[in-house]
Amino acid sequence: MSSRSIMRTKDVDTVIHQGDHDGEPGKAGLRKRLSARDLMGFGIGIVIGTGIFTLTGVQAKDNAGPAIVVSFAIAGVVSMLAALCYAELAAAVPTAGSSYTYAYTTIGEVFAWIIAWDLILEFMLGSAVVARGWSGYLQDSLGLSTTFFGEESVVNLGAVFIVIVLGSIAAVGIREATWVTNVLVIVKVGVCAFVIIAGLFFLKASNLTPFVPPSKQVDDGASGLTQPLWQFLTGVSPTAYGASGVIVAAAVVFFAYSGFEAVANLGEETENPSRDMPRGLIGTLVICTLLYLGVCFVITAMVNFEDLSEGAPISDAFGQVGLGWARVLIGIAAVAGLTSVILVELVTISRIVFALSRDGLLPEAVGHIDEKTNTPFRATVVITVIVAVIAAFVPLDALAEMVSIGTLFAFTVVAIAVAVLRRTKPDLPRPFRTPWVPFVPILSAGTCVALMSALAVETWLRFLVWLAVGMLIYFLYGRKHSKLEHDARTGPDPALAAARDVQPPAGR
Ligand code: ALA
Repeated sequence: MSSRSIMRTKDVDTVIHQGDHDGEPGKAGLRKRLSARDLMGFGIGIVIGTGIFTLTGVQAKDNAGPAIVVSFAIAGVVSMLAALCYAELAAAVPTAGSSYTYAYTTIGEVFAWIIAWDLILEFMLGSAVVARGWSGYLQDSLGLSTTFFGEESVVNLGAVFIVIVLGSIAAVGIREATWVTNVLVIVKVGVCAFVIIAGLFFLKASNLTPFVPPSKQVDDGASGLTQPLWQFLTGVSPTAYGASGVIVAAAVVFFAYSGFEAVANLGEETENPSRDMPRGLIGTLVICTLLYLGVCFVITAMVNFEDLSEGAPISDAFGQVGLGWARVLIGIAAVAGLTSVILVELVTISRIVFALSRDGLLPEAVGHIDEKTNTPFRATVVITVIVAVIAAFVPLDALAEMVSIGTLFAFTVVAIAVAVLRRTKPDLPRPFRTPWVPFVPILSAGTCVALMSALAVETWLRFLVWLAVGMLIYFLYGRKHSKLEHDARTGPDPALAAARDVQPPAGR
């Protein structure tokens, strides 16, 4: 095989028509039944979670002070630039697999695989992080045993429990998942609105000064592998707070926006993707950004940033101003809100695995669509088990930064794909066009890389190890079994192509 083959690309038109047989019995597609409103439900369901409910407190305390609202604004702008890029591709190439498929049609198979591998990391670790956060909130609200719930647990059975319950719902079908998610989303948006409105009565201007706490040197503990990559590379001594602290916090709280792109994975299940995809993506992000900014501002104005709780900063702030009942209410709503994040993330990973196995990069049996549930049942079960094991043992903070770096990496590739596709496929119908190409894609990629450089050296190392494992799998399996590789060797064989799309009766 020539080395060029790893750069082979899929034909955009083939990809677009890949899902045309959806809904027919016995075909490998996913049924089209989601509207723009459902997409926003999924989007908000996956976006608002541990980022705003937990990371806000830690990052305000350790890095940004009251300027945490600026960190959230920076992360929101970077996400919006990415959303503008995603919207063009999601409307033009609506298919399961999202950025993976966009990379496949533009920059080549090996990059597509790496993106998919990266997305699997993002969503698996993301759902494990949130499951552990869920367990912690539940422990805090109900006073449960710290042996089995929360970050101090030996085996986090609370996290394992919620992953198994939600994995089962995801395996049973998208309709159930949408319904459950929509209810939880209403609760979550409601509690954010409540925090903003009720919090307005407890603002203290003195809590907002100094708005950006002055930069201060940190001791050796924060140097070495835990310092931001850019400080490590430039030899600047590690600092907390100041402008640099605001940027570091922006990179970490980027986690709070991660997941909105999951909306793009539902392209094949959307009734009218050209109209609804851009609405779903951008609508999700606008709503989440506004809620985040409001919550951050109110919380840091209610309580001095040094007094914020690290475990449950939002509910605790209400406790500190004497509203005990609000503290309990917010705690319970947070548990509900985190539930929907885990659910949507689990649904999303199974969609990515489905796309990978359809393309031969993973074994076909893994992404098989079950006829009864119309979901990638097996993939969902396997993923649920893996996430449950990770959630049982791996600490939350070790995982959260990994999700940010994975998300930022995927956004960078998507921005590049938009610019490349404009050149290579200028005539592709684009129901939504990213404005000011190539300026916006370049700005999007540049800001993502800048935020990545603010993440810790150890996060970069872990991420590179994950990518290396991915490359190994690709060269040992995917490269040889790729559908494109097969077509290149034997020529397109319509009978075989059809056989790949129809599920074999045996082996279910
Ligand atoms: N964005 C999601 C959260 O904040 C992953 O929990």
